[in-house]
Amino acid sequence: MSKLPPVLQNLSLPVIGSPLFIISNPQLVIAQCQAGIVGAMPALNARPAAQLDDWLAEITETLAAYDQAHPDKPSAPFAINQIVHKSNDRLDHDMQVCAKYKVPIIITSLGAREDVNQAVHAWGGIVLHDIINNKFAHKAIDKGADGLIAVATGAGGHAGVKSPFALIQEIRQWFDGPLALSGSIATGDAVLAAQAMGADFAYIGSAFIATQEARASDAYKQAIVDGDSDDIVYSNLFTGVHGNYLAPSIRAAGLDPQHLPESDPSQMNFGGDSAKAWKDIWGCGQGIGAISAVGTVAAYVEQLQREYQAARQRLAL
Ligand SMILES: Cc1cc2nc3c(=O)[nH]c(=O)nc-3n(C[C@H](O)[C@H](O)[C@H](O)COP(=O)(O)O)c2cc1C
Repeated sequence: MSKLPPVLQNLSLPVIGSPLFIISNPQLVIAQCQAGIVGAMPALNARPAAQLDDWLAEITETLAAYDQAHPDKPSAPFAINQIVHKSNDRLDHDMQVCAKYKVPIIITSLGAREDVNQAVHAWGGIVLHDIINNKFAHKAIDKGADGLIAVATGAGGHAGVKSPFALIQEIRQWFDGPLALSGSIATGDAVLAAQAMGADFAYIGSAFIATQEARASDAYKQAIVDGDSDDIVYSNLFTGVHGNYLAPSIRAAGLDPQHLPESDPSQMNFGGDSAKAWKDIWGCGQGIGAISAVGTVAAYVEQLQREYQAARQRLAL
């Protein structure tokens, strides 16, 4: 494990609640931070763009009040995700709003940019960049990112195809900074496994969709409770980049999950209309077999803590 920057120390559990397009909102982020884990949200979830200012005000003010009331157990820091792809026409605006609130952690996806990293450092924040292979990991650190999120096979959203073992061991040969592992992690046992492998944090997404605070429909949450890895389909049809999706939502859209056409990557679009095209196609990772009910974020994080401690004891750590 690496020496962590102060902002990433003192979590109640080594977990980052990952950003979820459309689904993450201030309620989810606040609940994650109050449970002692990093909460995260894509800037693009605030629509129209002007709403980002309101949301960051809500998050920072609510967490500050919480910290005053709970000085012995303050909240964890929050993160905002920026899609650094050229089709994101809001990036400059959203970065300015993040600068106003001195967002402690910025998570960058789909491209690494030196100017973005410098801007975050100028206000005292850190940048974690998500990558799906060792080549992109090198690029991100060369361009000034402080830490990495290794997105392995089986992750929700734009998952990679690499085994988590391969990714982490390759990155740890040259990088000793903050490293999170993403992909199908949904139990405290798996959080400990990520650490044993050499990661500092587990990066958990799909499991948080099935929480009361998440902005997902009841049917989506129930599909996660009911589903397992057999229900997950890997396709590039919906955004131009390969990702994992729930088969029942693909069937509901009138498509055959087993015979999806290939998409044209040049059509990749994270601009104004990107939420609309496949609004009812549900992104999801393979780890959902571990999720058996919809509950609160606090209850889920407590469960992760119990499982994590039990796993440590089992291994006599
Ligand atoms: C519905 C959904 C939406 C996502 N949206 C984003 C996003 O906007 N930005 C991003 O960086 N990652 C996004 N991801 C990826 C997650 O941040 C994370 O890498 C992934 O969920 C981890 O794997 P897991 O779902 O198996 O836990 C999304 C994942 C899902 C399931």
